[in-house]
Amino acid sequence: TTPPEAEHFDRTIERDQRIEPRDWMPEDYRRTLVRQVAQHAHSEIIGMQPEGNWITRAPSLRRKAILLAKVQDEAGHGLYLYSAAETLGADRADLTARLISGRQKYSSIFNYPALTFADVGVIGWLVDGAAICNQVPLCRSSYGPYARAMIRICKEESFHQRQGYELLMTMMRGTDAQRRMVQDATNRWWWPSLMMFGPPDHDSPNTARSMAWKIKRHTNDELRQRFVDMTVPQAEALGVTLPDPELRWNPERGHYDFGEIDWAEFKQVVSGNGPCNEQRITHRRRAHEEGAWVREAAAAHAAKQAARTRE
Ligand code: ACO
Repeated sequence: TTPPEAEHFDRTIERDQRIEPRDWMPEDYRRTLVRQVAQHAHSEIIGMQPEGNWITRAPSLRRKAILLAKVQDEAGHGLYLYSAAETLGADRADLTARLISGRQKYSSIFNYPALTFADVGVIGWLVDGAAICNQVPLCRSSYGPYARAMIRICKEESFHQRQGYELLMTMMRGTDAQRRMVQDATNRWWWPSLMMFGPPDHDSPNTARSMAWKIKRHTNDELRQRFVDMTVPQAEALGVTLPDPELRWNPERGHYDFGEIDWAEFKQVVSGNGPCNEQRITHRRRAHEEGAWVREAAAAHAAKQAARTRE
């Protein structure tokens, strides 16, 4: 017989209601969520690096202010998500330790370099565009704190996507050299953006379980197709070519067909051998170590405050 708390859990999922932190949940549900939410949080934090690199070199004060705000938003997203993971019983310091020791993953996409300022625009357009596509359905995820965090994150991501597209529109109205930079950045980021959605469905160990629990609402391939379909007209409006000779409208399917993704490259990047994995983790580890005094000072201050209120 199913215990009453398990029955309550199943009914809550079935009715599309939310599981909240104090509700009973199967251990595997908790583990899956901690895994996904922590990876998501790590991605936001590591994701500050490729663009953060351009803050001091932004071409105008306006672009610099926009980029600063955007990178700061990513830090905020990481913090909401670590908080959501804490509601599941995870410990934030432990999650950080797992990230910097390579025991927990973060998105493959942030292991590619941002070589020119056009990359800042293309990251906003394609990377944040893919993030929105993947994350809007997560606003309906079955775990309450994760779903609610995603609402604000998606609003901010859509601002990021638009700033990227606007930056690229401006560059496309500029010189030939600027147009070439946009095309070159598009060529480099297109395939890695498609890899953000994860392995193909037949090779995705977690999808079926996560869909049954309504943590995920669509499969990796469904979301990838949705992203391709929405991006092709945007590329046309911008005047750039997506680097895939097999990309074409398929009227029978009502979708764009596209070429085969290099899954060997994806596996390499996810297992730590992408172009910037080493650099990203080294940088994150250094920031953590150099921030130790801030954490100690904050803890000492909090202890003093607590002592004062007790007096
Ligand atoms: N980069 C790194 N690892 C990945 C990627 C990727 N692009 N795609 C899949 N993986 C990992 C999975 O985390 C999983 O790892 P694990 O089981 O060892 O922990 C493994 O590859 C197998 O993949 P799936 O079974 O498909 O895993 P899952 O069901 O978790 O789906 C997905 C992966 C789609 C990324 C899902 O976790 C998700 O939607 N996460 C939330 C969104 C997110 O993390 N976005 C981060 C980038 S966007 C941004 O931050 C701007």
